[in-house]
Amino acid sequence: MQLTELFLSNYRNYDQLALSFSADLICFIGSNAQGKTNILESIFLSCTGRSHRTPRDRELIQWGKEEALIRTKVNKQIGASEIAIGLSISDKKNILINQSPAVRMGELMGHLNSVMFSPEDLKLVREGPQERRRFMDMELSQVKPKYFYYLQQYNRVLNQRNRLLKDISYKPSLMNTLPVWDKQLAEAGSYIIMQRRLFCDALQTIAEEIHSHITHGSEKLSVVYKSSIPLKKESSQDEIQADFLSELEGKHVDDTERGNTSRGCHRDDIVFQINGVDVRTFGSQGQKRTTVLSLKLSELEFMAQETGEYPLLLLDDAMSELDPSRQKMIMKYIDKVQTFITLTDLDQFPALKGKSRQVYQINSGKALLIES
Ligand SMILES: Nc1ncnc2c1ncn2[C@@H]1O[C@H](COP(=O)(O)OP(=O)(O)OP(=O)(O)O)[C@@H](O)[C@H]1O
Ligand SMILES: [Mg+2]
Repeated sequence: MQLTELFLSNYRNYDQLALSFSADLICFIGSNAQGKTNILESIFLSCTGRSHRTPRDRELIQWGKEEALIRTKVNKQIGASEIAIGLSISDKKNILINQSPAVRMGELMGHLNSVMFSPEDLKLVREGPQERRRFMDMELSQVKPKYFYYLQQYNRVLNQRNRLLKDISYKPSLMNTLPVWDKQLAEAGSYIIMQRRLFCDALQTIAEEIHSHITHGSEKLSVVYKSSIPLKKESSQDEIQADFLSELEGKHVDDTERGNTSRGCHRDDIVFQINGVDVRTFGSQGQKRTTVLSLKLSELEFMAQETGEYPLLLLDDAMSELDPSRQKMIMKYIDKVQTFITLTDLDQFPALKGKSRQVYQINSGKALLIES
């Protein structure tokens, strides 16, 4: 898949920006705080409907302005398409796909796919489970629009169930209505768990190989989905649903006391291990970095397997922290997928020399094509 055009209006520090891409490697260079990441962010937003940096759309709209527009054109095997996202201070997002309004956010998913890799991704192996759930949710939503729908439904039901649990404390008769929400939660949740498990299994196979390659065979990376619902090893979605339901039922008293739902996919996690040891707790800085790189590159492969096409690769400041052998690994992918990369200086990544590329100099919200 190839991004051919990007148009921004009142987006972050860009009044107006219109770029056409004809190469498979596009570099944005410039000093700090000039707007390099803002461009990658707008591309990511066009893929997933949200920024990788903030859940608040209003931060994306230029200060002092009411609205912003992001328009992209993409070429895929099945043909070209155009995505337009309108952001407004006072209204919700407005999405047009090939000029037709999308009624639901989920319709955006799958038109343009990307994998973003930035230093902040270290959170994936450093921080709490929320980061890892987000990682799965973002990836799966892009390749399976159905996943996105189930996820939205799950979150809606979870909120309602939590509200009910709080209400029960002063109106115990409401307890009778809890099973209705249990059932709906288990229905949506079992789909989510099933897909996340399959994803982790696929990732395990791909990431193990990539990681072993980067570490010259010395490290074996494993990726295991860890659910708060006790699951049997190869359980079907129906079995997961039954286990989910009985877990919820078993926690009725606890949940009512806590006023929230203690079990379910909103509590799940992924465990990454290197040679059998937990990376988050015991991994060195270098191991964590390599793990994230392996995972990100695996995401590309996973998306290609699922959709038949490689997504875009968005490398934000990603090179500065990688040593030459890891940079080389990324180069292998740069040859396969259209890559957008931000750098303060082209010398930061010498291996990019000699590649067919477009280079933009970014300066205070303006882009100047300096090489093509
Ligand atoms: N809503 C907004 N309206 C106007 N300007 C904004 C808005 N949000 C951020 N900015 C500006 O965008 C700039 C930051 O852009 P960006 O994060 O893309 O920088 P960068 O070139 O990637 O820098 P670095 O190399 O430090 O990562 C800052 O100057 C900031 O003030
Ligand atoms: Mg940046």
